Amino acid sequence: MSLYEMFTSKGPSGFGYGATAEQVTQGLKLDGKTILVTGCNSGLGLETLRVLALRGARVVALARTLEKATAACAQAGSGPGKAVPLACELSDPQSVRACVAEVKRLGLKLDAIICNAGIMALPKLTKSHGYELQFFTNHIGHFLLVTGLLAQLTEDGRVVVLSSDAHTRAPRGGIEFDNLSGDKGYGAWRQYGQAKFANLLFAKELARRFEGTRKTANAVHPGVINTNLARNLNPMVGFILASVGPLALKTVAQGAATQVWAAVSPGAAGLSGQYLSHSNVAKPRADANDPALAKRLWEESEKIVAGLGS
Ligand SMILES: NC(=O)c1ccc[n+]([C@@H]2O[C@H](COP(=O)([O-])OP(=O)(O)OC[C@H]3O[C@@H](n4cnc5c(N)ncnc54)[C@H](OP(=O)(O)O)[C@@H]3O)[C@@H](O)[C@H]2O)c1
Repeated sequence: MSLYEMFTSKGPSGFGYGATAEQVTQGLKLDGKTILVTGCNSGLGLETLRVLALRGARVVALARTLEKATAACAQAGSGPGKAVPLACELSDPQSVRACVAEVKRLGLKLDAIICNAGIMALPKLTKSHGYELQFFTNHIGHFLLVTGLLAQLTEDGRVVVLSSDAHTRAPRGGIEFDNLSGDKGYGAWRQYGQAKFANLLFAKELARRFEGTRKTANAVHPGVINTNLARNLNPMVGFILASVGPLALKTVAQGAATQVWAAVSPGAAGLSGQYLSHSNVAKPRADANDPALAKRLWEESEKIVAGLGS
C-alpha cells in the first residue's frame, strides 16, 4: 500500500487513517450525553474534550489537578455549566477514589468513559506503591477509576481504553505477573508495552463482564502522533518526530478520532471486546485475545487495589 493509499483509504466504518475527530462526529448532536475523559489537558485528551463539547456533550474532564482540568475546559471552549472539571491523579489511589466519590456525589450518569491518560517510556524504573509506574498509572489507575464508576454507566454506556500498537512490545506472555514492581528487570519500552497490553486486556475482560447487557468496552490504538507523550524520549528523537510529524504522523485531530468514534458514533454501537484502529476493528497481538490472561489480570488488579487500602 502506498503512503497516499494509507492516508486516504477507508474501512468498513466509512472512516480511515486520515479521518479527524470532527469528521467522525460530523452531524452528531450529543446534547444530553455525559462523557468522562481522563488526561483532558493535553494531546489527544484535549482534542477529545474539544470535539465532544463542540458536538454538545457535557464532558467530565479529568486531569492531575483541578487547575489543569479547569484550564483545559476553558481552552476547549467548554466553560462553566457545561464541562465538569475534576482532579484525578491516576498514580495516587486516594485521588482516584476522591474523583469517583465526587462523580457519584454529583449524580453524574456516564454515557461513556474514555481512559485516555498515559505516560510512556520512562527512562528509569520508577514506582508507585511498589509497582512500576507505567503499569500503575496507565492500568491500575484506570482500573480503580472505571470499576469504581461502573454503577454510573448508562444502560448502553461505553468504556474506551487507550492502548497502543506498542502493546506488541510487551514481554512474552504479555504480563510479567512476577515482576510488576520492575525489580526483576526493566525496559522503558518493554514496560510501556506491558502497560498498554494491560489496557487492552482490561477492555477485553470488561467486555466479557458486560455480555448480556448493552454496555460495551473496547481498546484503541490512536495512531502515532507527536504529543507531550514523547517527553521522556531522547531529545534527538523528539526533534525527528517534530520534523517528520507533519508528513509521516497523524495530527492530533486525526489521533483523537478513533477514541471519539468508539465513544459516541452510532457506527460503533454494539461493538465490544475489540481492538480499534483508524476508527475500525483491527487485530491485536494474538495473546491479547486470550480470555484466561484477561481474567487473570483482572483478578490480580483486584488484589493490587485491595492491597492499597481505602
Ligand atoms: N501519541 C501517540 O503517538 C500515542 C500512540 C499510541 C497510544 N497513545 C496513547 O494515547 C493516550 C494519550 O496520549 P497523548 O499522546 O495525548 O499524550 P499526552 O499529550 O502526553 O497526554 C497524556 C495525558 O495523560 C495525563 N497523565 C499522565 N500521567 C497521569 C497521571 N498520573 N494521572 C492523571 N493523568 C495523567 C497527562 O497529564 P499531564 O499533562 O499533567 O502530565 C496528559 O493529560 C495515552 O494513553 C497514550 O499511551 C498515544
